[in-house]
Amino acid sequence: MKDQTPNINKDRIPKHVAIIMDGNGRWARKNGLIRTIGHANGVKSVREVVEASVEIGISVLTLYAFSNENWNRPKAEVKALLELLVKSLSKELPTFQKNNIQLQTIGETQNLPKRCHKILQETIEKTSKNDGLKLVLALSYSSKLEILNSVKKIAEKVAEKTISPQDITESVFSNELYTADYPDLDLLIRTSGEYRISNFLLWQIAYAELYFSPKLWPDFTKDDFFEAIVEYQNRERRFGKTAEQIKN
Ligand code: IPE
Ligand code: IPE
Ligand code: MG
Repeated sequence: MKDQTPNINKDRIPKHVAIIMDGNGRWARKNGLIRTIGHANGVKSVREVVEASVEIGISVLTLYAFSNENWNRPKAEVKALLELLVKSLSKELPTFQKNNIQLQTIGETQNLPKRCHKILQETIEKTSKNDGLKLVLALSYSSKLEILNSVKKIAEKVAEKTISPQDITESVFSNELYTADYPDLDLLIRTSGEYRISNFLLWQIAYAELYFSPKLWPDFTKDDFFEAIVEYQNRERRFGKTAEQIKN
């Protein structure tokens, strides 16, 4: 595949990119392997997109690594996935430090096994002073739950009379979401040829550009990522306005 980097406009880099990393199981089946090996091979693609994001100066990269619904998978697969996470985090720490990457998470991470939660907290802590790429892992994440939790927190404030219902604005609501501190989502990528959102960042995608790749996640490379960035840069984001308004 041709090198995409020269086609990237350095003045129009998306600030916040999110990826639904899908297709590990199908990649494994295609290669006559068990699903777990598919997940292990997906780690390489994570490394590629993280490196690519650092290279072009993306501020926030949010990766959907484990959904709340993924708890319903066979116990052995859940276990293998979470062990892979623990292993990868300890292995990647030096790379995070070297590349000035700050790790963060979104989702119901308190539901993760203790060992997993612990290494996450440690890695978040150890990388907290880094001010380059924010790498955000969505773990045990459900967008509907995130929205409900935001509603509950605001309802409590209304009950305590610290806020009145007419003061509930978009920003009041957004401020209660996990993503409160991140810039608006610019680009959402999903691999594996599925055209759905699977309970990911439902509020946040309001004006994001959507990009679907037919590649299975373990086959997704840095150049595939750059191709998505180039496509993003060629789109006109109008935010409800007319094309003429955007050009002026
Ligand atoms: C994505 O790959 C990884 C996770 C959801 C954790 P899948 O495991 O969903 O792979 P497919 O969709 O079955 O191919
Ligand atoms: C979405 O993939 C979740 C992650 C990539 C972590 P799934 O494979 O779980 O999505 P569905 O169930 O096919 O929609
Ligand atoms: Mg899947």
